[in-house]
Amino acid sequence: MQLRLALLSNAGGSGKTTLATHLAYLLGRQGFKVALMDLDPQGSVSLFCGLSRPRIQDTIAAVLQESFSGDWPLVPIWQDKLDTVVACQGEMGLVKTTSELVLHERGAYLLGDRLQDYPLPQDVIIFDCPATLGPLPLIALSACTHLLVPMQVEPKSADGAGKLLEWFYGNFRRLRLNPEPKLLGFIPNQYDQRLAIHRNILGQLAPQLEKLNIRCFSPIRFSSEFKNASAKGQPLQMYRPGHPACADFDPIVKQICEELRNTHD
Ligand SMILES: Nc1ncnc2c1ncn2[C@@H]1O[C@H](COP(=O)(O)OP(=O)(O)OP(=O)(O)O)[C@@H](O)[C@H]1O
Ligand SMILES: [Mg+2]
Repeated sequence: MQLRLALLSNAGGSGKTTLATHLAYLLGRQGFKVALMDLDPQGSVSLFCGLSRPRIQDTIAAVLQESFSGDWPLVPIWQDKLDTVVACQGEMGLVKTTSELVLHERGAYLLGDRLQDYPLPQDVIIFDCPATLGPLPLIALSACTHLLVPMQVEPKSADGAGKLLEWFYGNFRRLRLNPEPKLLGFIPNQYDQRLAIHRNILGQLAPQLEKLNIRCFSPIRFSSEFKNASAKGQPLQMYRPGHPACADFDPIVKQICEELRNTHD
């Protein structure tokens, strides 16, 4: 079975695109075939992967059109390093798609429908979502098998996490998702362990999540090299292979590999 992972959070700048692109690269490097889909009108995946801006007909917006007949607009990324990762780009035209989804009879299920009608051969599909919990995150929620939530370590994080969980569980019910996507956990991002405020917030949040049986992954540290790497269209592991933050992704990759093994059993 294909693992479809949605990166979702109700906060802008929490690290969804960073995580989506890094996981695509790291899983691709392990030999898994990965398709990275950009459901965000900002189209940040293109920037973070060093791709030029697409035409609207070469984006996920085309996939969601009535006229789509299975020709997925996929482009290879980082092909000088690996041949396992492709992207389906996003761009501003997705704003129009959002209003069309609201009116469509199968609106919330459209992406899942496309993947069922025109299956992709990849082992993993990663959905990068916008921060506003509207129709685009909803189509990712109903199409995914697994969820991951990056979050910044801020005073509002606990409140935000609670609201996001309500949104997840409310929509699992409303959309009658069966099976429900599996929430793999929350990932604290841009963490600076020298800051007492970060240590305190994480020290409170992690046990709260664990009480709900939700994993809180070890944090991804703050490093300005993430911005430098994405400006070059590369993940940190390609831009600065020896950087200590590269290892921060290991537990997440390990968990996804375990899920992949389970889906094959
Ligand atoms: N661990 C980190 N340390 C420092 N900077 C980071 C880290 N992770 C991400 N960033 C930077 O923070 C910014 C926001 O990250 P990113 O774009 O991945 O968040 P996002 O959740 O996708 O944002 P949006 O809601 O706008 O889509 C980017 O400039 C990124 O390079
Ligand atoms: Mg983003």
